[in-house]
Amino acid sequence: MSKHDQEYGQELFERLQRIAEGNLQYPATPPAIDPHPLALYPPAPRELRKMKKFRFQLLHRWLTDHFEPCRAADIGGGKGLLAYLLQESGWETAVIDPAPQSLPDKFKDISTGQRIRTPNNARVRHINREFDEAMAQEFDLLIGMHAHGCNAQIIDAAAKFGCGFILFPCCVIDEPFYPPIGATWLESVADYAVRQGHDIFPFRLNFKGQNIGLAAPGRCQLKS
Ligand SMILES: C[S@@+](CC[C@H](N)C(=O)[O-])C[C@H]1O[C@@H](n2cnc3c(N)ncnc32)[C@H](O)[C@@H]1O
Repeated sequence: MSKHDQEYGQELFERLQRIAEGNLQYPATPPAIDPHPLALYPPAPRELRKMKKFRFQLLHRWLTDHFEPCRAADIGGGKGLLAYLLQESGWETAVIDPAPQSLPDKFKDISTGQRIRTPNNARVRHINREFDEAMAQEFDLLIGMHAHGCNAQIIDAAAKFGCGFILFPCCVIDEPFYPPIGATWLESVADYAVRQGHDIFPFRLNFKGQNIGLAAPGRCQLKS
């Protein structure tokens, strides 16, 4: 990440914290606030230079560090690696994605640095359809990692059925609203979530690209 990206990221992160705290006059800049305790999740020093990708492994680790196992749907989950890793950690998972894709043959275990071959018989539940609100009924946590076109829908579904959500919004494609002038898409999504009654907080993972997540625990149990 370049210095410029880092500074922009930090400024945006702080604006998201203010939105999460209920100050909705974005992009105005009221006084700084303390970060949510779960947002304080710096990478281990040795990871600073190395962990520029592996976003599924990083999100898996963050989720299992902070949440008790629950029923999670990875919406737009692609090949299903996140769902597989969570399943291996005792979570009940499904991928909701209209494009059927198989699990990757291998992946890196970020705690050991080893490449792991996915067992031939490894399976995750895959719902090969576009996400719709009613699907949320059977899950506790809705995950949307760069799931363009689904962010507002996930927020609405979570509000209706009391689910938590984790979003890494990337671009405004097929969403029902646009950010107002002067605001980013991420701020706009955060603002929308707060307006739908969610208790949210931003957090950041150490991968390249749009790495700021918005979390709402909903009925999911956080680890103490
Ligand atoms: C940019 S990819 C992200 C994939 C993965 N989450 C990642 O971070 O690499 C977007 C995914 O969303 C899926 N998708 C597109 N529209 C969708 C919808 N309405 N409901 C569920 N998934 C959708 C696509 O098939 C694709 O796999």
